[in-house]
Amino acid sequence: MTGYIDPEDDGLMVADQAELVNASFSRVFLRKGELVNRFYDHFFSEQPEVESLFQDDFGAQKEMFFAMLAMVVKRLAQQRDFETLVGKLHRDHASFDISEEQWQSAADSLVFALRDVLQGDLSPEEGAAWSAMTNKLILAIVALRDKKKVAHVVRRG
Ligand code: HEM
Repeated sequence: MTGYIDPEDDGLMVADQAELVNASFSRVFLRKGELVNRFYDHFFSEQPEVESLFQDDFGAQKEMFFAMLAMVVKRLAQQRDFETLVGKLHRDHASFDISEEQWQSAADSLVFALRDVLQGDLSPEEGAAWSAMTNKLILAIVALRDKKKVAHVVRRG
């Protein structure tokens, strides 16, 4: 782990942070191509074994990644919609058996890419809010993944 995510952050977001993420999103959107490239470069350098999992059109994958990010940002304040997206992300990735460390590394890479691409265009408060948002998302996916694993074991009994 390289530590772009604040380890003290427990994944809870306050309303102000959701607002900060939303308010900075138009600036993020303008740089989306660079952001997504930087994200995957950083993620693959941290987790080299992950790269070979990506088999389909990588250009389309980058578009889907950003579209998902945009949806998450928009739904941050609506708990039920947010959970629906967490469920979708979990299902879309269930076949890859992704470890908690890999999920965390993706979160870390996203915050790294945001700070690196936006630099002075992202205030420290906005950077911290993105970090909290990303952490919240990843913790929710990992919690759901663990819950499904337990349910599976119990069913198999
Ligand atoms: C910030 C967290 C992440 C987001 C927002 C995200 C988003 C997405 C989205 C939207 C898709 C496309 C799903 C579809 O086909 O409809 C996808 C596919 C995929 N993701 Fe993720 N992802 C994240 C983290 C990860 C992690 C941690 C891994 C692996 C360790 C991973 C591996 C993959 C792979 C292998 C595919 C399928 C690619 C292919 O079909 O070639 N993702 N992801």
